[in-house]
Order: sequence, then C-alpha cells, then structure tokens
Amino acid sequence: MTGYISNDLRKVTTLRLIEMKKRGEKISMLTAYDYTIAQILDGAGLDVILVGDSASNVMAGNTTTVPMRLDQMIYYAQGVVRGVKRALVVVDMPFGTYQVNETLAVTNAIRIMQECGADALKLEGGEEIIPMVKKIIDSGIPIMGHLGLTPQSINKFGTYTVRAKDEAEAEKLVRDAHLLEEAGCFGIVLEKIPAKLAERVASELNIPIIGIGAGGAVDGQVLVYADMLGMSKDFSPRFLRRYADLHTIITEAVGNYIEDVKKKDFPNEKEQY
Ligand code: KIV
Repeated sequence: MTGYISNDLRKVTTLRLIEMKKRGEKISMLTAYDYTIAQILDGAGLDVILVGDSASNVMAGNTTTVPMRLDQMIYYAQGVVRGVKRALVVVDMPFGTYQVNETLAVTNAIRIMQECGADALKLEGGEEIIPMVKKIIDSGIPIMGHLGLTPQSINKFGTYTVRAKDEAEAEKLVRDAHLLEEAGCFGIVLEKIPAKLAERVASELNIPIIGIGAGGAVDGQVLVYADMLGMSKDFSPRFLRRYADLHTIITEAVGNYIEDVKKKDFPNEKEQY
C-alpha cells in the first residue's frame, strides 16, 4: 500500500490542530457521512472528518445543502462518530438551525453534541452570526467557521462561482475571519476564494485555515470524499484532484457480479451452506 503512514494514534483535538499550524504541519480533512467510509478515512490517518451538510447533495441527491434538516445531520453524524477512533469529528450545523437567534442556535448545537458525540461544530458566515458563535462557544462547544463560498447562502449568491474577487468582499472576508477568531473559533474553512486572499488570512490569523479551492498557502485542505475518490463523474471544478476512479471500479465490479448471477456462476459450491 502507498500513502501516508503514521504511528501517532493519539486522538486529534482542536488544540492539536492549533499546534500543527504553529509548527507548519498541514492538516488533512475530508467529509464523511457514514460509519463504513468514516472507518476507512480514520484508519488511513486523516486528521479531521467533517460530517458536511454536503450530505444533502452526496447522499440525498439534492442540488443544494438548503434542505438538510437537523435530525438528518444527527443521523449521519452518529454513524460517522461510531466509525472514528482518532480523527477530530466536526459536524455542520444545517441551514436554519443557528441563524434565527442565540437561544435556538445553542439549543440545536447542544442537541447535536449530545446525540452524536461529535467533537466540534461548523457554522457558515461572518459578522452576522458572531453572537450565535459566541453563545455556542460559551456553552463549551468548539466551533469552526466557514467563509467565502458558503453553500447554505446559494440562493442569495445565485452562483457557485469564486467568491471575494472584488476588494469590498475580500475586505469583509478578512474582517469576518478576524471576528471569528476573536469570538473563539478554533479554525476556519475558506471555500473557493483567490489563493492570495486565503494566504493573507492564514498569515494574519493564529487559528488553522483549511481551504477548499483556496490554494496551497493555507494550513490544511478539505475535499468531499466522494469527489476525491472519483465517485461523481459530472463534478469537475478546477480545485478538485481525483485520487481514484471509484465510479469505474464500482461499475466494473457490479457488472461482473451481474454477469456471474446471470450465468449462474455465483454462488458456487464453496459459497453456500
Ligand atoms: O459540507 C461540506 O462538505 C463542506 C465542505 C465543502 C467544507 O462544508
């Protein structure tokens, strides 16, 4: 087998991520939405597993993350947590569960933590959500921010194109990143923004900045696992690197199975009781 090998079996904590940034060790993060995949990713030595609300697209076939509900996120996260021994497990708070007011935000955050046993939560947005972020952190729950392309706001943006290309939006993003750090966030995801801007944020902040389509000068990278394993054929943004072609591998395997069943080759003598 090729790839990353580590003998460090200690549980990854938010504190350890901040230490990794300090010593320049890059942070690896992928999404997962179920027990089986989470077990594989964790066993490979991944630092952070995100139970992303991209489950709405990957698992449920929706075109946006907006329909994702709290009880659905909790269901996905429970499976992931059962499969993970080492990685830090971060769960997305879905759209509508933290924007309304601080009380609702903290109530929903506590529910996710209690029902899933996750390590931390992720929220999308900047200045607008700072009171909710503070309230949740005050209750003892670590929070990761998410700026740039924030898919829960897709109906406001109207497009999945690169964010913060103009100066006003870029300056707001930098301001928001500082506000999230001051509010106590342990890290921030920056999605689909110019690499130079992401580099500036990573150099100005002390907490780890994890990029997706934000270039290489940040403190770590995150991708949707199904995309980087080549399970999706029709999603090819510039930032995506495919590390496998599971679409072809699975199609061929299933094709072979169908053939064996049809020609009565499966099961054979040894495969029955
Ligand atoms: O839900 C998700 O998959 C995410 C990543 C794109 C960071 O938020």
